Formats: sequence, C-alpha cells, structure tokens
Amino acid sequence: MAQASVDELLREGTARHAQGDLDGAARLYRKVLSQQPRNGNALNLLGIVARQRGDTARALELSRRAVAERPDSPIFLANHGATLAEAGRIGEAVAALRAALARRPDDAVTLRNLGQALTAAGDAVGALAPLRRAVTIAPDAPEPWLALAHALREAKDPGAAEAARRVLALPAPAPLLAQARFLLAGLGEEAPPDRAPASYVKDLFDQYAPRFDAELEGRLGYRTPALLAQMLRDAGVAADGSRRVLDLGCGTGLSGVALQPFAKRMTGLDLSPRMLAEAGRRKLYDALEEADLVEWLPRQRDRFDLVAAADVLNYLGDLAPAFQGIAGALAPGGIAAFSIEAGEDSPFALGAGLRYRHDPAHVARLAAAAGLLEIARQETVLREEKGAPVRGVLFLLRRE
Ligand SMILES: C[S@@+](CC[C@H](N)C(=O)[O-])C[C@H]1O[C@@H](n2cnc3c(N)ncnc32)[C@H](O)[C@@H]1O
Repeated sequence: MAQASVDELLREGTARHAQGDLDGAARLYRKVLSQQPRNGNALNLLGIVARQRGDTARALELSRRAVAERPDSPIFLANHGATLAEAGRIGEAVAALRAALARRPDDAVTLRNLGQALTAAGDAVGALAPLRRAVTIAPDAPEPWLALAHALREAKDPGAAEAARRVLALPAPAPLLAQARFLLAGLGEEAPPDRAPASYVKDLFDQYAPRFDAELEGRLGYRTPALLAQMLRDAGVAADGSRRVLDLGCGTGLSGVALQPFAKRMTGLDLSPRMLAEAGRRKLYDALEEADLVEWLPRQRDRFDLVAAADVLNYLGDLAPAFQGIAGALAPGGIAAFSIEAGEDSPFALGAGLRYRHDPAHVARLAAAAGLLEIARQETVLREEKGAPVRGVLFLLRRE
C-alpha cells in the first residue's frame, strides 16, 4: 500500500476516533497494520482505543510495541506511561511519563498523569511540581486543578482548598464539581455531604484496582473480612454453604473469600468496573453487579440471607438509606454484617482521608429504626493508614 493511502487511513481513523466511533477507528488502524505491521502511529492509536475500552492488557501490549518502534516519540511514551499507570505499574509509569516530558515538557495532560501517578505512589510532595506546571499551562482545564487539590491535600498543604475552589470557578462537568466540593468538605471548608460522590468512589477504586490486593493485604494489614467472618461463626452462623450471600462493595473480592464458606450462592456488587473485573477473576461470585448500593438495594426484596459490607459504609455519611435497603433485601431472620470507622459525638464526620466516620451508638439506633436488631458488636483495628491504626467497629444485626 502506498504511504499516501496509509496516511489517508490514519487521518480518517483519527477523525472517527475523535467523534467517539471506536469501532470504525479501530478498523482503519487495523487496516494500516495489515499493510505495515510495525506502523508506530497505528499501534499507538489502536492502543488508545483498547485503553478507552478498558482492555488494559491489550492497550499495554500495543503501546509497548509503539514505543519499541520509535523509542524517542514523546507521544508514544506518554500513552505508554498513561497505560502503565492504569495497569497499576506506577514505577514504570513514572519513568515513561518522565521520558515523555523530557522530550515534550509542556504537555499538560502528561504533566497531570505524572502528578497523579506520583500521588498514587505516595509521593504527593513530588507530584506538586508537575501538577503546578500543568495548571499554569492549562489554567482553564478543571482536571489538573482537581489533581493538584488532591496532591496538596495529601501533602497537608493549606493551598489544597484554593485549588479545589478553582475547579468550582470553571465550567467543569458535574462529577468534577461534586468531587471538588467533597474535597473541600474533607478539608473542613464545607459541610460534609450525605455521601461520597459516586464518581469519586468509582475513579478512586478504578485506579486502585490493580494494586488493591497487594497494598491492602501487605502494607495496610487489612483484616476486616476475616474479622467479620469470625464474628459470624462466633455468633453461631454456620459456615455450611447454605446462604444466599450479598457482598456489598465487593471490590476485588477479598471480602468474598471470607464470605464464601457461608454461601450457597454469592452476589457481588460494586460501583467500580475495574474492581469488579478483578473480582470476576477469582471465580467466587455467581453474579456481579455494577451499581450503586443505595440505588440497587431497594429493588431487591427478601432476596438474601446474609448481606455483608466490609470497609464500604465509610463512603456513605447518612447510613439510613443503606440500612433501609439492606433490611428490605434480607429475608426475615437474615443477617447483616459490616464495618464502620469509629467516630464520636456526631452521627457522621468526614475525615481528611475522605472517608466517613460514624458514631457507633447512632449507627445502632439507625439500624434498629430500619428493623435491624443488633446481635453482636466488636471494636477493632481495621487496617493501617500512613502507619497509624484505623479504629473501627464491626456489627452483626438480624432482620426482625
Ligand atoms: C475499601 S473497598 C473494600 C472492598 C471489599 N469489600 C473488601 O473487603 O476488600 C470499598 C469498595 O466499596 C465500593 N463502594 C463504595 N461505595 C459504594 C456504593 N455506594 N455502591 C457500591 N459500591 C461502593 C468501592 O467501589 C470499593 O470497591
């Protein structure tokens, strides 16, 4: 095929790509590759399509091949870096993004990606320089301001609130505005909303998904699922594989592993498609639902014998809707098992880590109002955060 027609195919492909026609674009990029299997542009662009479709493994393979063809291309390096970050390979992502920026220093998207990767790696202070540069280059884009606000919050820098307010001053999409307001509430600058915005939870756990198990079970010493399972056994709930179990906010399925001995059939539910994809790989669940628990539960009547929520209710402030939903989804006599992060004095408070703490006495009252009666309660340490224990309370309740 003549180079002119390859260029024409790429031009048409990128035009379709820009219109959101991923299938049409991919078909044209593949056509180029059928003629020129080592065409870096086609490999790179097809990799972007794979990433947009959520196929990170394929995206990684394609972006790696594009970089192999042209190791000096800042565009290929930047896309490869962004893909590595999505795959949770943060160290390699930082290296690729830095290499891209060495060749094209003023690319605001790559600067933001680098800042977010460094924040994810726990180096919020290191993230500040690229993010400050990103907002200087693209002052009207809300995404880099939000990323900067998060990094400043993590770095305990008082400028975090100002950066979040910059998002609010821009014509940003509603989910970004909600996230900025939520961040301000976490900083104590606004009253906490009734719950974390669904888009915040989804983005947070989508980017966390590939690293979640290693971090939680390693560095963070996460024990909530095992503690809840032991509490169920201690309360005389037999691990005899006889129950219809619902794992609310199932994440990657760490909680499912602990709940499986109780289950005849197990349903997992989560807001984050990437957490659900990890859960699916465990082959533990009979059904996985991508939904918001507050919206999904009211549609389930008497469907479950055991409903668990391990480390999930700390993303909700007002627990009344969740408890009403759980009570309705449980068959009479069914059991609810969940953890909360322990707070005092007010029904709920939003911490700087952007998770809610709840007053256990208030939790018990709210649950009772929904028809869930307490059968056991246990104070415990749920996991570590920045080297400090996270105090929590585990509850077992029975539907009247
Ligand atoms: C810290 S993880 C815990 C995952 C799992 N339960 C475990 O013990 O490993 C919290 C999970 O709850 C999910 N989540 C938080 N709020 C939710 C909501 N309103 N509806 C559905 N899932 C939610 C998040 O997406 C995330 O996967």
